[in-house]
Amino acid sequence: MSDTTNTPKNTSKKTSTDTSSKTQQAEKPWNGRFTEPTDAFVEAFTASVTFDQRMYQQDIAGSVAHAKMLSHVGVLTEDERDQIIDGLAQIKSTIEAGEFNWSIRLEDVHMNIEAALTDLIGVTGKKLHTGRSRNDQVATDIRLYLRDEIDQIVSELKRLQMALIDLAEKEADTIMPGFTHLQTAQPVTFGHHMLAWFESLERDRSRFIDCRKRVNIMPLGAAALAGTTYPIDRAFTARELGFEGICENSLDAVSDRDFAIELTASAALLMTHLSRFSEELVLWVSAQFNFVELSDSFCTGSSIMPQKKNPDVPELVRGKTGRVNGNLISLLTLMKGQPLAYNKDNQEDKEPLFDTVDTLKGSLKVYADMMQHVTVNKEAMREAAIRGFSTATDLADYLVRAGVPFRDAHDVVGKAVRLGVDSKRDLAELSLQELQTFSGKIQADVFDVLTLEGSVSARNHLGGTAPEQVRAAVKRARTRILKKS
Ligand code: ARG
Repeated sequence: MSDTTNTPKNTSKKTSTDTSSKTQQAEKPWNGRFTEPTDAFVEAFTASVTFDQRMYQQDIAGSVAHAKMLSHVGVLTEDERDQIIDGLAQIKSTIEAGEFNWSIRLEDVHMNIEAALTDLIGVTGKKLHTGRSRNDQVATDIRLYLRDEIDQIVSELKRLQMALIDLAEKEADTIMPGFTHLQTAQPVTFGHHMLAWFESLERDRSRFIDCRKRVNIMPLGAAALAGTTYPIDRAFTARELGFEGICENSLDAVSDRDFAIELTASAALLMTHLSRFSEELVLWVSAQFNFVELSDSFCTGSSIMPQKKNPDVPELVRGKTGRVNGNLISLLTLMKGQPLAYNKDNQEDKEPLFDTVDTLKGSLKVYADMMQHVTVNKEAMREAAIRGFSTATDLADYLVRAGVPFRDAHDVVGKAVRLGVDSKRDLAELSLQELQTFSGKIQADVFDVLTLEGSVSARNHLGGTAPEQVRAAVKRARTRILKKS
């Protein structure tokens, strides 16, 4: 797993196994039932604090809301509530100053913070966990964490989409070969091509926005699995935490991680789109295509070959898609054998999830920046479109309009292309007399459809490649991106 996953930004301080500090001497909260200490290796093996400390903000926010609710229903006094809230605020500052002593003996972020609270405020700290379990606590933390991350993902995604829209507008008239089977097929506009990727990303965006609705539901109150005997007010806690709903069933609330799997699936699709786009960029920047140039600041050189300028960013994004797809399989496999309700297996959801979020956010950021600095080589694209007989279908359509059945027209054009290949000329470079040897229906106006401009501007309908349509689509895209979904 990457070191980004294991090293949270603001919580750099050591995670220790030594037993010197006060917190580390603290008894494990579940010690009462046990007569023997935990095996040292098992302690490290079962701990999650090295990675779940990343959720400290969410854990503290959840505890603050829980304490407020407990005092609201009379389980805690207002004074106890305030002591807890103040204590948690202090702990948060200590963590953010990098001075919190994370202990593996206390297993996870939840028990570390709770033990630190008791160290700090005494017996009142021990009351925080009333009517709650780590099972509903961790499910709440992950949902809060993912909710924040989804918002950041969506905003980076929008930035990339904006860059594509701008590029599409600028290059609405630029002609390139469109491909099928990576063979030159028909001319398209570069703006149209950019907007194709905009559409894929727009579906990704709506998937994340939709997924957020199912993430933003509160498990807290489910306690270990069956609910709690205290007179809790779940609606109160949900309001405090900004949840849009409350999990209806306590067993489901602590058990299922489908919302996390859904997010990872959306991430895998988004990465797959970026990976395909990357493959195009890698091809396009090669000397063989020479369609676009990436800014030097997004490329690297070779230590041995001085002429090289490598498209590392798209290559890496293409490569990183593998780990996100892998994370999806990890999470699906993690879930598939679990009976209701909570099982420790679920602790394994965090590293793949964190890695997914980090990889996705990084890839989106670098892509949004990179796409703002793409230089388009119009001449090379144009030449490639001409060389590939990309207006052959237009000649066939011309013949159909003159009354020739499509299959016969297809045959006529095939013969014309053959002559072009043999004499190394494009269709538009053949003379009218030569073209007329293949069909008497061909007239002087044929050259209007054989040009690249004629070909693209003839596809002038919604979803077509004509520059006029690209400009209209750019306008619509700008409006769509301002809407929520
Ligand atoms: N660290 C655990 C996790 O990530 C927290 C919940 C543990 N609950 C338990 N009963 N062991 O899932």
